[in-house]
Amino acid sequence: MSTTRITTADLKKMKTAGRKIVMLTAYDAPLAHFVEAAGVPAILVGDSLGNTVLGYENTLPVTMHDVVRHTQAVVRGTRRALIIADMPFLSYQVSEEQALRNAGKLVQEGGAQAVKLEGGKRTVAATQRLVDAGIPVMGHVGLTPQSVHQLGGYRAQGRTLAEAEALQRDARALEQAGAFAIVLESIPATLAQEMTQALAIPTIGIGAGVHCDGQIQVLHDVLGLNPNAAHPRHAKAYAALGDEVRAAVSSYAEDVESSAFPTREHSFLLPNEVARALRKTSAVTTVDQS
Ligand code: KIV
Repeated sequence: MSTTRITTADLKKMKTAGRKIVMLTAYDAPLAHFVEAAGVPAILVGDSLGNTVLGYENTLPVTMHDVVRHTQAVVRGTRRALIIADMPFLSYQVSEEQALRNAGKLVQEGGAQAVKLEGGKRTVAATQRLVDAGIPVMGHVGLTPQSVHQLGGYRAQGRTLAEAEALQRDARALEQAGAFAIVLESIPATLAQEMTQALAIPTIGIGAGVHCDGQIQVLHDVLGLNPNAAHPRHAKAYAALGDEVRAAVSSYAEDVESSAFPTREHSFLLPNEVARALRKTSAVTTVDQS
């Protein structure tokens, strides 16, 4: 069955119309389905899947194979949303050729409509190469988690004049290279506001204040499904699904331990005559089908 998905051009139109762009990450088919059902137009299969679903400490161990597989699942779980796949660490830095092959894989095998690369000026050549090949690219500047060791931790960026100006240059360079949108992560709100006004392409903020053209959050933070005590400052939990999961599983365990589950309602019954015949020949004399 064919589907008509939202396009990168639609996101640009939303900026022009002054409509906020809502984005979330997703990593599997069922949650992607619910995210789309809530009306979210664009989903990022972030390499944050390393932290959220694979249990890594950071995003560096995430592979192309991981992102392809999770992108396939998200594509299968949705029909309308624009699906953007994150390019994992070292999948685009070695050469532009390699970047193109890997981005091509995310589109061809994964089913993504676009890819995202972290970094400013240093990703301009790769961005241009992908865009020339017809692959839409989303940029990502500010706190770029794949550079966590270089940045010395997950800390806000762009707080000195030199850093702020460098970020402005990075964003402009990515726009000129053909990026269709740009994630601004953990930068001061006033700087993000200035960048949003200066750029024709949409800015999507995460920890970048309210004036960005749109916002993205990590789904597991929004749902309260993050078992780590350290909750990012920029994240807001709209549910406590972790607590709900724990409570539901405890109730299930109690019911199993007390034999309250399964009940007749959850069991398959023998026809009465078969049960009677079986009782005559079986060591099990307590078969109760009443
Ligand atoms: O991987 C990810 O989830 C991201 C978002 C935080 C923008 O890059």
